[in-house]
Amino acid sequence: MRVTQASPSPCWVVIIPNAVQAILTEYVGYTPGVELSLDGGTMTEHSVFENPFVGRQLFGPGPCNPYPEAQLALGLPLLGHLEPAFISAMDATSEMLRQVWGTQNHRTLPLSATGSAGMEAAFVNTVRPGDVVVVAVNGRFGERMAEVASRHGAEVVTVEHEYGTPVDVERVITAHPNPQMIAAVHAETSTGVVSDIKALGENKGEALLLADCVTSIGGMEIKLDDWGVDLAHAGSQKCLGVAPGLAPFTISDRAFANAAWNGRRTGIWI
Ligand SMILES: Cc1ncc(COP(=O)(O)O)c(C=O)c1O
Repeated sequence: MRVTQASPSPCWVVIIPNAVQAILTEYVGYTPGVELSLDGGTMTEHSVFENPFVGRQLFGPGPCNPYPEAQLALGLPLLGHLEPAFISAMDATSEMLRQVWGTQNHRTLPLSATGSAGMEAAFVNTVRPGDVVVVAVNGRFGERMAEVASRHGAEVVTVEHEYGTPVDVERVITAHPNPQMIAAVHAETSTGVVSDIKALGENKGEALLLADCVTSIGGMEIKLDDWGVDLAHAGSQKCLGVAPGLAPFTISDRAFANAAWNGRRTGIWI
């Protein structure tokens, strides 16, 4: 098999089935730049593209370019979920997450999910419909937490802040006398503002404290146990330098003991 490259620019060459080619052309706007010859004859079954995604630099807060080893790992053969090798890898990953999060929580693992699904897991597993949840809203993702809690039937008390300002701990703590949960975003991606989760933890009373660490994990010091955080969710696609699709998740023994599923069935499966 011989590959001829029509384009003078350096590129990776990938063979793409016609159906995928059609999608790329229609939705991404890429057209074949290379033609594949098979023993001198033109191959008609497949078209060959310059890989439009190689060399692309992602400069947003995430998804970012994965670290090379994370990128390479995506091409490895799958492991079965009950294989010893998978269980070892999962244990090692969970232990590294404990380190980066500053927690001893036994129940720390990457969920196969986006950061938003990690957020949802935090609410649906610990908040019963009708429970009071105080949400500090100082940006887009605080709004999302309030929305998720509300859709789950919680009585949501939002503490609104001007975009671009950190969470006002005093206002959040005094927003309700006895909430089941207080939720805040550690680093609000929509504004780049970091909030003092430690101060919330010191003043949370009996409430569970949920911290969204999607943007902060791996990029800032986090000490969940020292700060009194009971639950946290994160994402793999930002400072951890991995592809999207994993949501690191951790829950303390105290939060687990209060879990919404205790003694009853909930509307969720996991
Ligand atoms: C602070 C914060 N929370 C939650 C999310 C949602 O994560 P995902 O896009 O993985 O669902 C993001 C995504 O950018 C985020 O920055």
